[in-house]
This record gives sequence, C-alpha cells and structure tokens, in this order.
Amino acid sequence: MPHLPAQRLALRGDLLDFTGAPEWGATESPLVRYRPDHWLLIDSGRIVGAQPGAQTPDNTWAHHDHTGRIILPGFIDTHVHSPQLDVIASYGTELLDWLNTYTFPAEQRYADADEATAGAARFLDALLAHGTTSAMVFPTVHKVSADTLFAAAQSRGMRLITGKVLMDRHAPDGLRDDVAQAERDCLDLIQRWHGTDRLAYAVTVRFAPTSTPEQLAMAGALCQAHPGVYMQTHVAENREEVRWVRELFPEARSYLDVYARAGLLNERSVLAHGIWLDDVDRAALRDSGAQIAHCPSSNLFLGSGLFDWRTAEAACAAVSVASDVGGGTSLCQLKSLADAYKVQAMAGQRLTAWKALHAVTLGAAEALQLADEIGSLEPGRMADVCVWDWAVGPVAQRRLAVARDLHEKVFAWMTLGDERNLVATYVAGRHMQP
Ligand code: GUN
Ligand code: ZN
Repeated sequence: MPHLPAQRLALRGDLLDFTGAPEWGATESPLVRYRPDHWLLIDSGRIVGAQPGAQTPDNTWAHHDHTGRIILPGFIDTHVHSPQLDVIASYGTELLDWLNTYTFPAEQRYADADEATAGAARFLDALLAHGTTSAMVFPTVHKVSADTLFAAAQSRGMRLITGKVLMDRHAPDGLRDDVAQAERDCLDLIQRWHGTDRLAYAVTVRFAPTSTPEQLAMAGALCQAHPGVYMQTHVAENREEVRWVRELFPEARSYLDVYARAGLLNERSVLAHGIWLDDVDRAALRDSGAQIAHCPSSNLFLGSGLFDWRTAEAACAAVSVASDVGGGTSLCQLKSLADAYKVQAMAGQRLTAWKALHAVTLGAAEALQLADEIGSLEPGRMADVCVWDWAVGPVAQRRLAVARDLHEKVFAWMTLGDERNLVATYVAGRHMQP
C-alpha cells in the first residue's frame, strides 16, 4: 500500500520534460528540457523546483536518490477501457467481431458491484505499474462501473476523467441503457464526482452505432448544460464500422458529422482513432477544438488502419497518443509510442522521441486543458512523476552505451523500454508503485 506523502521530497535523476510542442522531424529542439543529474523538489504534493545534483537539499527534505535514471512526468493515457484488461490480446478479429466475441461479454460482468470494484482497483494499479498517472477512461454501461472507478481514483489521489458508457441499441442484454435512465445516472454522477478532488466527468458515448439519435441528442444536451464536462467517444476506426454508420445515419455527411449534429464536438471532446476522416472532418475538428486520441497499438492489432497524424495536425486538429487497451496490447505508453513511430514510418514520416513523448505528457495535458496541473515538471504542477531505468537487459544496455547524442539515447529508451524499466511512480508526491 502507498505510504503517507513526505511533506518535502527531493528526487534525484535525469529530468526530462517539455516546455512546448517540438517540431516534426527535429531531433534537436529548444522545447526539450533535459536536466541531467538534478534534484526535483516536491512540497505538499506539488513540484516546487529543481536544482543540480551537486546541491543536495538539506535534511528538511526526504531524499530519494535515483542517480543514473530518467525522471519524467507521469504519462497520460487519453483513451483506455478499464474492463478490457480481461480481453487484452484476444485473437483473430476486427473491430465489430471483436466487440461481439470478446468485449461485450467481458463488460457484462461489471453489472456486479463487487466485480466492478475489484476491476477498478486492478485497472488503476496496473496503470500506475505501467507509468501512467492520469487517464481518460471508458468503464461500462453500468453506473456502478463509473462510481467504483471514480472512488478508486479518488483513494489513489489520481487525476481521472471517466463517465458511464452510453449505449441503448445494438448491444446484448445487460449492456443496454435507455435515454431517461441514462440521463438520470449521468446527472447523478456529474453532481457527485465532477470537480471532486482530481476527478472530472466525461459524457461517454461508446460510438454512434450503439446509441439511438435520441440518446445522442441527450448526450449533446448534457454537454451543453454542463460546460465543464468532457466528452469521449470513438470515430472512424474501422472501414466496416464507417460503412455501418453511413447506413444508420444517412442524413449525416460523415461519421464525425453524426457527433457534430448532436452537439458533441467541443474543445473538451476526445475522439479515439479518426483514421478514416476527410478534409472536411479535419476542419470540423479544428473549428470545434475537438481532439483525436491516436491509438497505434490498437489500430495495428485490430487491423483498423494507419492514422495520418501529420495531415491531422496540418489541419490544426490536436492529437494525443493513447493505448486503447484492450484493442491495444499494452498499458505502457512507451509501447504505444514505439507503435506510433512504426505507423508514421509506413507513411514516410519520422516521429522523433521528442514529438512522441510530448504527446503523452504536455501535449496530452494541453489536449485535456489540464496543462496547469499535469504533464510537465514545471513548478506548481502536481507531482505526478515516474522514475525509469534507462536500459534493462543486455541489448538495451549495449544500445544505450553506443548512443551518440541525447535524442538517440532517449529514442532507444522509448523504443526498447517498457514497464520493466519503471522504478517508481509518484502521484501527488506519494510513492505508489511498485
Ligand atoms: N468502438 C466501440 N467500442 C470500442 C471499443 O471498446 N474499443 C475500440 N477499439 N473501438 C470501439
Ligand atoms: Zn477504445
């Protein structure tokens, strides 16, 4: 179990964070802040400064000496499903079959409060054990799945955004709600959890096919009535799914337009995937401020397609990187980034370590409008930080030993590293893991 926070805590190691968004392709950038061998100073759960390793803080500070290790802001996962640890690495299907064969049966179990409670704890502990300290999460359609997740995040002091999943059609028994009950459940959850400690509510539309137009309209009205809440959903992930949406919503210009018409696109909207969007959709993202959570591990695993990150960004649509477990095969955002590199390589683009790591730290924090709280090591931010070994095992150790510059070293760490490199996770200055 986590122990009580030291009031004043100093962590020593190689500090890495970002002060802005690095350019595409630039392996050197003034927006990368690398401070080798520094103390990171934490007081009452917040970062208060940093100083060179030779200037050891006095004994009013607890010292955690991680010399020779890399320290970053805790990663932010902008799209992940808590009940899907039970279906991660399921063989042989694309999205729609995968949902019916594996995912929906697993989610049915969360109707049970004990299952939901145990699942929430297991999921959040797993996030922390993979270096992720903040997340935007899909639980299930059951109100209790959101309630228990909020409570579990609260007891860990985590920044978490979630909401009961809305789905009132095209789902099996035990996984459908109805508009009136869903609205009551959302209102109650918003009232009890939104803005409580580090928690926020997201109106959570699973995806267009599992909501009636009436439910989408209710979700849009909730967003309008509660301007501080988030909205999360899936969009244009799989070609068969896109075809189905066209059939279900013939009046809409596109899949994204289904959400636009329901009033679901605003600067707090996070839409997973967005592989099969066009220029008009990208302009709608830009104009509304809605974000794409790019999920490379999931997109490769489910054979969904290759997301064109540069084109999205050129159209001024903001992009963060997410695991989308259980479509994705790892909760570790280093693995998401290694996959993101490969997806971009298929399009002839080079994703630098800076661009990649920014997308799961400061970039994701900005996408969630939380950059004043998380995503960097700036004084005043909450002390959500992770300590990592630079290299684990002989291959990574050798690669590191021959790295010629900082980018090469960090890129090798990002590509070869995973949760086995994680040494410690701190949430608001509290040592949580391992
Ligand atoms: N689209 C609708 N539901 C899901 C889900 O659970 N995972 C993924 N990857 N896509 C979805
Ligand atoms: Zn998803």
